Amino acid sequence: MKIITCIAPVNIATIKYWGKRDTELILPLNDSISVTLSTDQMHSKTTVAIDPDFKSDRMWLNGKEQSVDNPRFAQCLKEIRRRVQDKHGDIADWKFHICSENNFPTAAGLASSAAGYACLVYALAKVSGISEVRDVSLVARRGSGSACRSVWGGFVRWQAGVRPDGADSLAEQLYPAEHWPPVRVLVLVVSDSKKKIGSTSGMQESVKTSKLLAHRVERVLPDRIANMIEAIGRKDFATFADLTMQDSNQFHAVCLDTYPPIVYMNEVSHAIVDFVHKYNQLANQVKVAYTFDAGPNACLFVLEPDVADVIAHLRHLFPPTEHSAANYVRGIPVVQHVQLHK
Ligand code: DP6
Repeated sequence: MKIITCIAPVNIATIKYWGKRDTELILPLNDSISVTLSTDQMHSKTTVAIDPDFKSDRMWLNGKEQSVDNPRFAQCLKEIRRRVQDKHGDIADWKFHICSENNFPTAAGLASSAAGYACLVYALAKVSGISEVRDVSLVARRGSGSACRSVWGGFVRWQAGVRPDGADSLAEQLYPAEHWPPVRVLVLVVSDSKKKIGSTSGMQESVKTSKLLAHRVERVLPDRIANMIEAIGRKDFATFADLTMQDSNQFHAVCLDTYPPIVYMNEVSHAIVDFVHKYNQLANQVKVAYTFDAGPNACLFVLEPDVADVIAHLRHLFPPTEHSAANYVRGIPVVQHVQLHK
């Protein structure tokens, strides 16, 4: 028997992926850019065992056995086996037993599928003797698009690619975390309930019905992506922050432009947006940026010297009655201070 345990980090997109040109192969309409968080607070953990005596593939998620017929999961296994066949044919028939867990809310718009599939594929690759990160990114993409970015630390770009077979649609590291050490992320958990409309079906509805999405992809993103890469390169926080907030806002505008509309942010999310703009206005400088994925939870980007002051203001605005996860039930975000993953 061979057995291995891996952990994989969450990534937060600063330029969002929203919309596929190929739903089967999970090929996106646009490039996206993300920041990978340290695994200290939020991560997925997966243990994979392979053994010639295992009769079938089996999988447990957060302690509950799951069907292995899930098409995306099955696709990841198939893609790994295809690569194993090419390299180490002898173990290609062995079955996998897989145990995965997230230490943060699953499906609440906190990139759980990204960390989960990155971890699954990385562990499958490791136990099967596949070492190229390129392969891990390509296969993780088949589990969940955003997962292809979680295989790198620091600042990451997922190249949409142009090939119909998707062989050039994978993530690359733009810069490691050490490039810009003071960047911090505050994760504000507003709710841990499962989102009403998952990203996969939400983005499909947007592709079908939103004219704003087409405009975004064709007219807005090419320059925005180039500007974002430049801003990260020269460590220009104000530009990085403005682009991040504008892109989050446009993504949620696309969701509202989808018909019927998709609403991910709630009242607390909007109160956080107002706070960030007021804070920056009073500082006469852009010191904080927000971004929201397919859920109400916020991620704030802040430079390390400003973290304490921002947290103090958040505590004042949303006074916690006790430091427990139950706070967000009362509309008070729970703040986690996270560094970037290398
Ligand atoms: C809003 O990667 O979850 O978080 O590829 O269908 O699994 P699928 O979608 P998924 O979408 C993530 C959307 C997002 C933006 C982002 O992470 O870029």
